[in-house]
This record gives sequence, C-alpha cells and structure tokens, in this order.
Amino acid sequence: MNDIMSFEFNAFENYVTDSNECVRFKLVTCIDDLIEDFDDTKVLGHKQDGESKKLVSSSCRIAPFKPDMTYQFFGENENIFGYKDLTVKVYYSCAQLNIYLCLKYADRLTKQQTDGIEPDDVLKIIASKYETKVCYNLNEFSANLSKEQSFMPYGELMEEFEIETKPTDDHQQAQKRHFCLFKANNSVPGFVAYHERMQTFLMWFIEGASYIEIDDDHWDFFVLYEKLPFIGSQSSKPLLKEYQYCFVGYSTVYRYYAYPQNVRPRISQFLILPSFQRIGLGSKLLASIYTNYNNKSIVDITVEDPSDDFQRMRDIYDCKLSIQLNWYKTLAPNTVWSNEMAREAQMKFKLNPKQTRRVFEILKLKLTNRNDPEQYRQYRMGIKQRLNAPYKKQINDIERLRQRKAISETNYTLLMKTNQIPREYRIKNLNKQYEEIESEYLQIIEKLG
Ligand SMILES: CC(C)(COP(=O)(O)OP(=O)(O)OC[C@H]1O[C@@H](n2cnc3c(N)ncnc32)[C@H](O)[C@@H]1OP(=O)(O)O)[C@@H](O)C(=O)NCCC(=O)NCCS
Repeated sequence: MNDIMSFEFNAFENYVTDSNECVRFKLVTCIDDLIEDFDDTKVLGHKQDGESKKLVSSSCRIAPFKPDMTYQFFGENENIFGYKDLTVKVYYSCAQLNIYLCLKYADRLTKQQTDGIEPDDVLKIIASKYETKVCYNLNEFSANLSKEQSFMPYGELMEEFEIETKPTDDHQQAQKRHFCLFKANNSVPGFVAYHERMQTFLMWFIEGASYIEIDDDHWDFFVLYEKLPFIGSQSSKPLLKEYQYCFVGYSTVYRYYAYPQNVRPRISQFLILPSFQRIGLGSKLLASIYTNYNNKSIVDITVEDPSDDFQRMRDIYDCKLSIQLNWYKTLAPNTVWSNEMAREAQMKFKLNPKQTRRVFEILKLKLTNRNDPEQYRQYRMGIKQRLNAPYKKQINDIERLRQRKAISETNYTLLMKTNQIPREYRIKNLNKQYEEIESEYLQIIEKLG
C-alpha cells in the first residue's frame, strides 16, 4: 500500500481491505470442517475432486477466529490492496499443524486498471514470514487430515484436566472439556519442525513477536491440547482411539543461569488461541509452569515483556496464590512493604520480588477504604513513593558524587540540569501514573471477588 501513495485511491476504495478483518483462521479437525471451502472452490470454478462431492453439511467444530494484529505481514496500515470482498484463509490441521493458505475474493484488480500497480501478493507475503512448509492445494491438505487422528503430542505428558465451560446462551449446556499438557525440548525427535509450525501463530497474536531459534537446549516448551471426542466423518477410516488432539496454545520458557548454581526461568512466549480463551486455560498453563519450576535451584520466575492481557491474568492468579502466604494474614491498610514479603513469595511460589510488590499493592488496595480520606491518602502516597524512588535515587547519587568531590562543579550542574525534572511536572506525572495503576488494580480486585 505504501507504494501507491500518489494513486487515485478513492476509485479503488472497495479494493482495500482491513487485514485484521479479512484473515480467517481455522483449526481443521476432519474433512467435514472443509465443506464450505470445497463449496467455494466450486463457486470459483476450480476443479473439484470426487471425495468432496460426498461431503455432507456440518459446521466447524472449533470456531474460526481472526488475528489480533497483522502489521508484521501487511504493514502499519494493516490493509491489503487489490481485492474486492477478500477473505484470506489461514488453516491449520488441528494436531499436526499442517498449514493451508488460500484467498477468496469477488474481484481482483489488474495492472491495466491500476496503471501498473500490482495487487498485494498476500499468499507470498504470509508464506515468506512462515519459515515452514505451507500448502496451497485443498485436496492435498485434506488428504493429509486422516493422519490427524493418530497424532501423539511430542514430549512427556505433564498433566490432564477437565474444565467445565458455562453456556454462553440459553440454547447451550454446560460442557465438560478435556485438556492435556505436554512438556518437550529440542531433543525430542520431530519437535523442532513442529515448533516451527507452532510459532507461525505468534506474529498474529503477540505484539512485537519474533521467532526463536531452538538449537539452544535451555528452552523448555509447554504445549496444551484439547482432547476432542472423535466424531469421525463419512470419509474417515475405522478408529483406533476415541479422541483426537487439538492444539490450544503453548508457552516457551528459557532457563537462565543465576549465580552460583541456580536457575532463573523466564517465560518468553505464551499463547492461547482465541477459540480457547477466557475459560481458564491461560491461568492453568501458568500454574503448571510454576509447579514445574518449584524446586530448590530455582530463584524465581520472570516474564519477558508481558502483554496487558497476560499481566491481568498473572495478577489474578498470583493474588490468589499470595492469599496463602503468612504476610497476607496480617495485611492491613497501614501495612508497609518489606523485603521479607518478597522473600516468602519467592521461597514458596517462585514469584519474583517486583511482581510480589504489585500483588501486595493490589491486595492492600482491596482492604483500603477509599471513602476514608486519610486511609486512601496513605495508600496513594505509598504507590507514588515507589514510583518516585528511581528518580530520587538518581538525584541522590549525583549529590553524593559531588559531596565526594568525584565530579567537578561544572559536571554536577550539567548532570542536575539534564536529570532534574521540575516538581510541578513530576507531581502531575505521578498523579497520572497513579490513576492508571489504580484502574488496573481495581480490575483485578473485581475479579478476586
Ligand atoms: C493473555 C492470554 C494468555 C490469556 O489466556 P486465557 O486462557 O484467556 O486466560 P484465562 O481464561 O485464564 O483468563 C484469566 C483471567 O485473566 C483476565 N483476562 C484474560 N484475558 C483477558 C482479556 N483479553 N481481557 C480482559 N481480561 C482478560 C480475565 O480476568 C480472565 O478471567 P475471566 O475470563 O473470568 O474474566 C491469551 O489471551 C492470549 O494468548 N493472548 C494473546 C497472546 C498474548 O498476549 N500472550 C502473552 C504474551 S506475554
């Protein structure tokens, strides 16, 4: 799109599509999930194979979903040029994660119509980012679906559990769903290639995501699946087992070294696909990661650049955990933060001190009566002092350098000039920061009940 700045844009308004809206993901469990796609190929006049004619109508088992972002593929404007009524199909077989890409559109501009400007080569753009094999032929993709039923996840089974999902409308019933979590690493045969397919989801759902190289054996992988009751299809062979695996999401954890002989695991990527979000699976995955690393050699667990949604989920879970700590029993609106609190949470649950401080502030706000002016003022002061501490330290350090005559008067004046922030501006800024923090904390408190 950037190339066509001078272009007579309005003439082709209908040929510019919001890429966040037109990309559609599907986790394909069996050939029945592809019925509408075979119908599309018929409408578009493509050749249709014999098998597809046999298909009976049924809806998709896993609800299709859209990406959260597309700028890594289609640029900052997140749109696609050159097609009318465009749908970009990005399909994955639900267990093996074989990928199928296809475009559906009502019309495509030609170079003659646009003075030589080509429509975006959407499939090429996606495939070039994928760094793994993709398929463009529906028959080829569907032919491989029979292998989905025999798929066994890589690595070792860590846990199996059930989740009872609530009905979302009057016609639905509560449903018991079965999930399992596997742990793998790069020494598991076939897993490196599987990971290449898993990580193709990242750029669509995580801000600033990039791929990781997993030739380093400090990486651990936690992969979550739903065990779907097998319903088969007209074209399926007799079955060996009564369920099939469906990929739900995964997390990578890097085991960093910590002096002298310890480990500091860091959660790097963490993804639950949209069709499975908000039913507690992210919290469950986080809980299993905590359990996995709860041993003597672990200092604490950190998270690399957490998204807002992840931080919300983590705050809720960590608050629930911390309610079991000794310091929580005596927590009151006038309790002040101490490193002892951090140590207890670190020992017991491997929470890192920065996160424990956050949890402390949330739980303390929960106990604070915001209608009591003095109590509320004390609370706000506590937070603002924490926010202001790095600034205060910086200024004190400069003062100390001057006292020790470690810097000249000229350098001192220069340092103060560049580092000192006018009081009025600082207060305004602190108030703003406080308001943002309080609103985040109140959301968590609402969830804690
Ligand atoms: C963040 C993410 C992992 C959460 O997974 P999840 O399975 O939906 O999490 P849970 O169901 O355990 O949610 C627990 C609570 O966290 C909060 N939460 C989670 N996602 C939220 C969202 N999008 N908006 C608001 N609150 C959210 C909710 O309070 C939720 O409880 P509720 O559903 O009862 O309100 C998932 O949304 C995701 O993968 N997002 C895209 C990628 C991403 O941001 N990854 C993290 C990178 S560090």
